[in-house]
Amino acid sequence: MAYSEKVLDHYENPRNVGKFDDGAEEIGTGMVGAPACGDVMRLQIKVNEQGVIEDAKFKTYGCGSAIASSSLLTEWVKGKTLEEAEHIKNTEIAQELALPPVKIHCSVLAEDAIKAAVSDYRKKKAAL
Ligand code: FES
Ligand code: FES
Repeated sequence: MAYSEKVLDHYENPRNVGKFDDGAEEIGTGMVGAPACGDVMRLQIKVNEQGVIEDAKFKTYGCGSAIASSSLLTEWVKGKTLEEAEHIKNTEIAQELALPPVKIHCSVLAEDAIKAAVSDYRKKKAAL
């Protein structure tokens, strides 16, 4: 299968790999798995007082397309509000990376991960 150049670029030079301290109150963590293949993605966001995502990090145990999807997503969410970030669609990611049909679920993983991270952050805030 031929990967697009964008996938290869993100796969070979993934942006924002790593993790934040889960316990910190400005951090939201989303951990999701893809039922289709068993791959797992952890995405974390760092949110400022204004509800804007200042930074993001990810760790993905999965295929090249999943790594590329999460790498791209961490770039996209920086500077976005929580509302904007949770409205990012997997189809936008798939389109940007030119993912083939069998790899669409990898981009779904990224959409699920950002939604989970935003909801984790909100839950934490509400509990404070
Ligand atoms: Fe799991 Fe993609 S099938 S690596
Ligand atoms: Fe399963 Fe990519 S996340 S093959």
